[in-house]
Amino acid sequence: MKTVIVTGASSGLGREFAEALGNLPSVEEVWVIARRKERLEELRSTVGATVVPLELDLSRNESLDTYRNYLADRTPQVVALVNAAGYGCMGEVENLSLSDQRGMIDLNITALTAITKLTLPYMGQGGEIYQLGSFSAFEPLPYMSVYAATKAYVLSFSRSLNRELKSRGIHSMAVCPSWVRTEFLDRAATYRDVIVYFDRFYTPKQVVGRAMRDMKRGKDVSVCGAKHRFLRLLTKLFPHRFVMSIWCFQQKK
Ligand SMILES: NC(=O)c1ccc[n+]([C@@H]2O[C@H](COP(=O)([O-])OP(=O)(O)OC[C@H]3O[C@@H](n4cnc5c(N)ncnc54)[C@H](OP(=O)(O)O)[C@@H]3O)[C@@H](O)[C@H]2O)c1
Repeated sequence: MKTVIVTGASSGLGREFAEALGNLPSVEEVWVIARRKERLEELRSTVGATVVPLELDLSRNESLDTYRNYLADRTPQVVALVNAAGYGCMGEVENLSLSDQRGMIDLNITALTAITKLTLPYMGQGGEIYQLGSFSAFEPLPYMSVYAATKAYVLSFSRSLNRELKSRGIHSMAVCPSWVRTEFLDRAATYRDVIVYFDRFYTPKQVVGRAMRDMKRGKDVSVCGAKHRFLRLLTKLFPHRFVMSIWCFQQKK
């Protein structure tokens, strides 16, 4: 069965990926993973391929065991994997709860790495891996310190994995958008100790469309929007201390 697997498919970018990839004529089955099963089941009305909802809390080790067993039972031919489950909290490191700091690391780093590792044996030539990083991966980000550091991991992991997988014809790409209007922003604002400056918002459709085009072009990083591709260049040209100062000025800090 030609299968697409999408984590974080109950909302935002994951849902958009599930719909875009799950409606490709060549795809037979889409496994959609998140905690809210009813949201996953709703995808049956918008996705052409067979939707298989897997209700899993990926921050728990037992969920990763369940996923491993599910793969072993079904032995799918995975043509695309999207790791979109993730969250971020804005706020000072001292104020963020330890459970949120660990939660971001468990989901954004540990689960993403484990899902990738467990899925790879079921992928072959032409396989695509979309790893949801963030624009915050390109620079240290005060008041989103832990989140940005998890995304720097995703960027580094995804790019080096892409090199390792070259000989197998599997392509891993970090998707690094700036702000996207999704439920992410509600959870991110839980602590309310930063007045966040939003320069502009992208839609999930724009980000996913760009990512799918960049995948076809063989890129290992996808950034949506000409403005943010230019800003990424600036993060390479200027010292990070300077770039952080601009960000802090924008946040009135
Ligand atoms: N929105 C932005 O501005 C933005 C910008 C750059 C990068 N990103 C990244 O893009 C990815 C997708 O974010 P989004 O904007 O689409 O956010 P979102 O709408 O909040 O979606 C997050 C998804 O992750 C799932 N999830 C959260 N905790 C989970 C857990 N413990 N186990 C399994 N699934 C879990 C959620 O499903 P359930 O709640 O049903 O479990 C949901 O489907 C994230 O990695 C985020 O860091 C977002």
